[in-house]
This record gives sequence, C-alpha cells and structure tokens, in this order.
Amino acid sequence: MASGSGITVVVRVRPLNEMENSRGDSADGVRCMGDRVVLAGQRQLTFDAAFGGPDQAQVFERTEMRALLDASLQGFAATVFAYGQTGSGKTYTMSGPEYGTELDASGAITSASEGIIPRAVRHLFAMLDSYTASRSGVSYAISASYLEIYNEQINDLLNTSSTGLPMRWHAAQGFFVEGLVVVDCETVDELMLVFQEGTKNRKVGSHLLNKDSSRSHSIMQVQVTSRELVALDDPAAGLAGAPGNDHTVETHGRLSFVDLAGSERLDQSGSIGRGARETAHINSSLLVLGKVISALSAAGESGRVGHVPYRDSKLTKLLADSLGGSSLAMMIGCVSPSSAALDESHNTLQYLSAAKRIQNRPVVQMSQASSMAASLKSLRDEVQGLRMQNMALHQQLSSISASGLLQGHGAMSGRSTPQQPFGAGSAQAGMQRTQSVPEHRYEEARQQREQVAAEHVAAELAHLRRQNAHMQMANNLLQRSYNEVKRENDALHDKLERLERVFVDKDHDDVL
Ligand SMILES: Nc1ncnc2c1ncn2[C@@H]1O[C@H](COP(=O)(O)OP(=O)(O)OP(=O)(O)O)[C@@H](O)[C@H]1O
Ligand SMILES: [Mg+2]
Repeated sequence: MASGSGITVVVRVRPLNEMENSRGDSADGVRCMGDRVVLAGQRQLTFDAAFGGPDQAQVFERTEMRALLDASLQGFAATVFAYGQTGSGKTYTMSGPEYGTELDASGAITSASEGIIPRAVRHLFAMLDSYTASRSGVSYAISASYLEIYNEQINDLLNTSSTGLPMRWHAAQGFFVEGLVVVDCETVDELMLVFQEGTKNRKVGSHLLNKDSSRSHSIMQVQVTSRELVALDDPAAGLAGAPGNDHTVETHGRLSFVDLAGSERLDQSGSIGRGARETAHINSSLLVLGKVISALSAAGESGRVGHVPYRDSKLTKLLADSLGGSSLAMMIGCVSPSSAALDESHNTLQYLSAAKRIQNRPVVQMSQASSMAASLKSLRDEVQGLRMQNMALHQQLSSISASGLLQGHGAMSGRSTPQQPFGAGSAQAGMQRTQSVPEHRYEEARQQREQVAAEHVAAELAHLRRQNAHMQMANNLLQRSYNEVKRENDALHDKLERLERVFVDKDHDDVL
C-alpha cells in the first residue's frame, strides 16, 4: 500500500422521497446497472460500485469497508466520506435514518437500518477481538473524537460548550484541531455512545428539500493504536539476551467518517435568515472542496501537482490527508433518482468521476523508533528464513553426495561457511546534547521545577540515546548476518544449478 492508491468511489441512488413522489417525479433520472450509473439521456459512468434502494447492509458489505477497517488495525489512516446535494441520503448512508429515532419493539435501534458508522464500530471490535486472539503480544487501544464544522467554525460534538476550536499544523500530523475531547473506548458500547452523543449534538435544520438537513460537516475520528513488543533475539547474529533487545512497535491507525452537509440551491430549499447564512457557508466550503478535487484530479492525469487550495477552507484542511495525502479513502456519492434533480445529480457524478483520478500514497503511521524496530524485525525474520532455506539446501546437497551420483564429477567441491563471531558494530549515538540546568536563580520553587524538568529531559535523552545506539548495533549485526547468509544461499543455489546441469549433460550422453 505504500505506492499510489486511487480513491475508491461508489454511488448510491436513494428511492424517490415523499415530496418527489407527491410531485409525481419520474425515478428515471438516475439508475444503477451493475457498477454503472445511467443518467437519463446522457452517457453511462462506471464506478467501483453502485447501489439503488434502501438496503443499508449491502453498502457496508459490497464496498471496501472491511478492508479499510483492517487497514486501520495495521496502522493506516482511512477516510470514508459521503458527498452529494442536500437530501440525497448522505446522513442516511453514514449513520442511518435520523439516527436513534427508528426503534424496534424493545426500544433498541433497528440494526437493519443502521448506516456505515455503527456497522463499522461493531465490525472494528469484532476484528480486534479476533486479531488479539490470533496474534500474541499485540494489543490495541481505541479512542474517538467527533467534531463539526458549522459556519466555518469548529465545534466539539462531545463537549457542546467547546466551540470555535483552533486548528494547527504539525509537520508529521498535518492539520489537526486543538483541544478536542478524545474518549478512550474499551468496548463496542463505549464507542457506540461516542457516536450517538456526537450525532445527537450535530446542527440539524429543516428546509423544503430535507426536513432533517445537516447544517454542518461532521467528522468522527477513531484512533486505532496497536502495540507489539518485538524482541530482536537472534543468537546467530549476536543478538541474544542483550539488555534493550525489546522494542515496542506502535502503529497509529485512524478511521475518519465524514458526513458532509449537502450543496443547496436557495430557490429550491427556501432557506431564509439563519438557514440562508448556513447555506452560504456550506456552499462556499463545498466549492473549495470541488476545487481541491479538480486540482488533484488534473494532477492524477498529468502527473504534475499544481497548486491545491487546501488552505482555503477548514474542511479541505482537515481532509488534506484523505485527498492526495497518505490516507486510504472511499467516497460515497449520494444522488436522487428524480428526473427533476438531474442537474444536481450530474454535478455530483462529475465530481465523483474527477475523484476517481486522485492518487493517495498510504503509509503506516508510526514513529521513527517504531519504524526502525519494525524493519529490524523484518530483517531478522528474513535472515532466519534464509538460514532455514540454507539448512534445507545443505541437506539436499548432502543426500545427493551420499547417493554417490557425484563420483567423477568435480562440481560439488563443498565450500563451508563457518559462522563468524561479529564485533559490536559501530554504535552511534545520534542524539543531541543534554539540557543544562538554568543559570539564573529566581524563586526557589520555579528553579526546582525547572531542574526536575531538565533532569527528566536528560534522562529521556539518555534513554533515547541508548535505544538508538542499540538499534544501530542491532541493525549492523543483522545486516552483516544477512549478507553472510545471503552469500551462502547464493552459493548453494549455484551449486545446485551446476549439479542439475551435470545431470542433464550425463542423461544426454547416456541417450547418445
Ligand atoms: N437510501 C435511502 N433509502 C431510504 N430512504 C432514504 C435513503 N437515503 C435517504 N433517505 C431518506 O431521505 C431523507 C434525506 O436523507 P438524508 O438526511 O440522509 O440526506 P442528506 O444527504 O444527509 O441531506 P443534507 O445534506 O441536507 O444533510 C431522509 O428522510 C432519509 O431517511
Ligand atoms: Mg445530512
């Protein structure tokens, strides 16, 4: 997944709604035929999947949802977002019908009508349980946050008094929102509660096109942290029982569920006053989103990335990683089937076609130390794999020698490769100088605090220096071991090849 990966784009066509039915609209405006979408009187467009109707399960099952959840457990960031005009079915697809209002006889939310988010929550925990059971030494931690962008302002949906939150930029993390409540969730019910609480707090309003119209863009983010203790024990490479042989590889997967507010024509929605102001904000941020998609799509075609206006809206800043960044992404375009909404549906499908050309570059999110420990582990595993292969090759060769077939042929003069004891390698301490204790003596309390902090930093640096030196040493040892074993492996393969040639020649002579 490290190289380019296109965005998965699927389309969902909802059934005609009450208003469209009462107007007598035809449902022939947009139709699904397999993975193709047919616009009345226009060309067909092909997507990764296309769905018609109210069936919520098929949207989850027949898209890449499971693969995205799996990727998050492996440390990738993955984003699912719903796009389309107002009333087209985005919230229905992501959450379910007016989430929480459709209850069965026992008062529970009917599971058949649940959207992608609650289904993903359940599947995530089910996958997590089976992963934990099958991979010893790996543990997972889940936490979640939920925000909305309302009138270009960021509000915390898990703490309604927290509004107008600032957005910052970090070299490694990109754009992020400061001060959001992040809830640790140990069970599926706890994560479900986060989803329900945030969804309940989101701004909703009524207009002629949708009585439960989302007036904000919402992003529910689930952090999936995995921790694995990696012991780099490899006696043959000189790595056995040394202190500091254990390293924790920590990956930071992330799932973002984005339910956009829909574009809206005021002449059709009839929004006025506050509603009209909300509409202006929604439309202008969607306009920037459209420009970002167009710029990235053009880059996907030409191979040259021009200016991408991520910074022109809060929404596009927060989606930067999902569009042209290091996330995996799936976009679900929602449209009405009505012939009266053909223009809007056509616009949505054009954006979706452009989004299909966007290339992301998904990478596992982990710290430098974790990444080094992970590559040391894979190098160690590779060395051990080669050693096993060499043992098998030795056995194969000695059984051939024992069979006496080689008498008279000089092809098998064995070359032994004794294990070399390895030196300690060049342990490099790549860390910077420690922090000195402040020279000026102000109030005693402050000085003490600073001293404690300085000692803490010094101890931390010393620890990192030791860890770094150990990893460098382990890397050198494993690298040497790898070269040694690989040379032996190549030599054994050569011998076998020569031997095969000898047999072929001998058979040939016998025939003649
Ligand atoms: N696939 C579907 N099957 C049945 N009903 C649907 C479907 N999609 C949407 N609906 C219904 O259509 C109405 C509008 O849907 P929804 O609120 O999800 O639209 P939206 O795209 O989120 O709009 P907005 O941008 O205004 O928030 C709701 O009453 C919803 O239950
Ligand atoms: Mg909505």
